[in-house]
Amino acid sequence: MEASQEQLLKEYNTYLELIDGELHLEGVSLKKLADELGTPLYVYSASYIRDRIRAYKEAFPNALICYAVKANFNPEVVRVASEEGAGADIVSGGELLAAIKGGVNPKKIVYAGVGKTVPELELAVEKEILMFNVESRDELFVLNDIAGRLGKKARIAIRVNPDVDPKTHPYISTGMKKSKFGVNFETAKEEYRLARELENLEVVGIHCHIGSQLLDVSPYREAVEKVVGLYRELTEEGFDIRYIDIGGGLGIKYKPEDREPSPKDLAEVVMPILEGVEAQIILEPGRSITGNAGLLISQVQFLKDKEIKHFIIVDAGMNDLVRPAIYDAYHHIVPVESKGRKHVIADIVGPICETGDFLAKDRRIEWLERGEYIAVLSAGAYGFAMASHYNIRPRPAEVLVEKGSYRVIRERESYEYIFNPK
Ligand code: LLP
Repeated sequence: MEASQEQLLKEYNTYLELIDGELHLEGVSLKKLADELGTPLYVYSASYIRDRIRAYKEAFPNALICYAVKANFNPEVVRVASEEGAGADIVSGGELLAAIKGGVNPKKIVYAGVGKTVPELELAVEKEILMFNVESRDELFVLNDIAGRLGKKARIAIRVNPDVDPKTHPYISTGMKKSKFGVNFETAKEEYRLARELENLEVVGIHCHIGSQLLDVSPYREAVEKVVGLYRELTEEGFDIRYIDIGGGLGIKYKPEDREPSPKDLAEVVMPILEGVEAQIILEPGRSITGNAGLLISQVQFLKDKEIKHFIIVDAGMNDLVRPAIYDAYHHIVPVESKGRKHVIADIVGPICETGDFLAKDRRIEWLERGEYIAVLSAGAYGFAMASHYNIRPRPAEVLVEKGSYRVIRERESYEYIFNPK
């Protein structure tokens, strides 16, 4: 029993292991961390993040890997990626600051987002980031004005919407015609021609991103084929397209039966299409860098049986990890201490006053007692990043472990912090 559990854990993260039945990440006991630092607690493995950036670099040797900061914006997490040579993909002024704080050179930052504000654009123009991934005609004019006012030139790509179905959750499909992202593929050339006329802009790239959590890499083929077609047409018209940014979106293992595609699988699909293309490739992976690097530890508060249902009530709720509530997402959950007890089928729920506040439904899990800890796997991306104070629950602390040691990279929030109105 334990051998297969051990095997499964390794498929999520090679640094996860059971030592005497107790879960460890990179050699650090999660029980010890929870005892010392309290729960809920996010824990991330630095070596795992390093390995993932390296895997992308190996699969795409000449590409620029811009880690999507939205997945996990802790500057110390960003720093691990930047130490491995990664740039950053950002979507806000805050993420720009997080990237810089995490040691990313602004010359490696790309900035997407449909609703960039004037102060955000000003900040990014001042920092002279690598490229703005512009999502509308209006944005071209506003950015041109700002760059002119600041005496700078802004390098831009236009985010095109290749109308490809990524076959993922509708809320995280972004490259289809009906979505708010990017400009229509068919008319994109008009935006390019317009941008060329705006004197404070320099047109340098094409950007697309079709969606997130793609377990099947085949939709990238169609998207990249379309983008390369556009690249050739633009080049013929005299545009100097130096970057083709194919976005992020590679899926990760959430369910035990999921097979996670590797950066190499992605490269095998897209590299043949990119042959002969002189532009540098940019990728924007988020989830596939930090998702399985991290987990959320939570403590069992109460157990209760209501007619046919057994509930395990824990101290992490939808305010800490909202993915199950809003996407009906599956996160694998294991006890921090496996004791070989009988299994039960239970709903694992949080303390929030909403029926949608659950971490797992009808889940088979080892019998747990009050006070024990559980680990919610695959929580390193879009976990803390989407956490809130709902019901006035301070957001969890975050810990980075590496090679047997750990450090707190964000303290647990205090009530004073939440109530500080300034
Ligand atoms: N680039 C752009 C332009 C994006 O919009 C995104 C994600 C990424 C890159 C990174 O995608 P990734 O490699 O992480 O799939 N909150 C949702 C995910 C939203 C993704 C939004 N955009 C979730 O928890 O599943």
